Amino acid sequence: MTPALRLRDLPPYPFAAWSERVTDAAQQGIDVIRLDMGNPDMPPHDEVIETLCQSARRPSHHGYPGYRGTSALRQAIAEYYGRRFGVTVDPDNEILPLIGSKEGLVNLALAYLDPGDVALVPDPGYAPYARGAILAGARAQTFPLRPELGFLPDLSTICPEVAEEASLMWLNYPNNPTGATADLDFLARAVDFARRSDLLLCHDAPYSDVTYDGYRAPSMLQVDGALEVGIEFNSLSKMANMAGWRIGMAVGKAEAVRALSTVKSNVDSGFFRPLQDAAVTALSSHGEWVAQRNAIYRDRLDLLAEGLRHIGLSASRPRATPYLWAPIPVSSGDRIGSGWTSKSFAQMVLEETGIVVAPGSFFGKAGEGFIRVSATASTTRIAEAVHRLKASKIGMSP
Ligand SMILES: Cc1ncc(COP(=O)(O)O)c(C=O)c1O
Repeated sequence: MTPALRLRDLPPYPFAAWSERVTDAAQQGIDVIRLDMGNPDMPPHDEVIETLCQSARRPSHHGYPGYRGTSALRQAIAEYYGRRFGVTVDPDNEILPLIGSKEGLVNLALAYLDPGDVALVPDPGYAPYARGAILAGARAQTFPLRPELGFLPDLSTICPEVAEEASLMWLNYPNNPTGATADLDFLARAVDFARRSDLLLCHDAPYSDVTYDGYRAPSMLQVDGALEVGIEFNSLSKMANMAGWRIGMAVGKAEAVRALSTVKSNVDSGFFRPLQDAAVTALSSHGEWVAQRNAIYRDRLDLLAEGLRHIGLSASRPRATPYLWAPIPVSSGDRIGSGWTSKSFAQMVLEETGIVVAPGSFFGKAGEGFIRVSATASTTRIAEAVHRLKASKIGMSP
């Protein structure tokens, strides 16, 4: 009566164990400010909530909602892709609504990976890319994202035999945790790489509408031929401040959408009809609202970058994502000194200031030496965090 062997290779989800540590700190009376998770603090647009309420009042909206999402939701996703990216997708065959994109990322691994197969995953990267492979009994082979290359992978250094062996490759731009962005040229090279290596290119793009200074993140599906080799994931969690609502989407190669749908129809039974109706509203009415929301993140990120500078960390606002990815200084000339791991540094910041940041190691080996700071707490709390950073002794010469 023991759990399955696959759990032996599955490490605990990094944020789950960390949250317990944060809860302990709060129980000891520390007034914690959580800047570790990308959990939007603001609500969605009013109209979205109104649609949810109205739809929930309809007696017929409480039954099983169907496996592939309502046709209205698939149509709204297709229209969003048309309007936002100039991409035409078939709502019946190339789109699948998800119970949050994380669910889809992991179920896609179950759909495409057999035991012993290989998935190429970025390091640093969002943990479920590798965890999905492990759950499928496959192997996650990392490729590095280096600061000197703008956190884009150097595709030419991925060994051809490994690429040949791999069934899937994960990319994520705008990137969590680094905030890096990829232009269409890079995405076109990635599509070409996927075609030559005969692998499914999975692009995870939940931050494509969290952007600043006029930057517009492209979709991988804008690349000619991407629909033949790729699938893109997106989500209303960050796009529309709806993380708790659990609404995502997979858009891309029909065969991959079908395979994902086959797994899902055996695992879940769709999601609540009022949520789907609200998602239609969120997707169709969010232009100006998104711009105003992003302006709030932008100001918070600037504030946070200033606070981090006070403790000797240099981080500048990225063009997208609500995150600052800050290197922890290690050389002897730096004010903080050496010897920190990202986890011990984050722990020290928590103890000294009550501010919770995410250790870079949560995102893989290459995340060591960094912390990720999220602008998803209220502006008042962020101002308080900056005040505490400025008042702290971290980074002062001894
Ligand atoms: C890169 C990336 N992909 C996917 C997700 C999951 O989003 P969702 O809430 O849609 O499951 C996140 C959440 O933080 C993320 O950072």
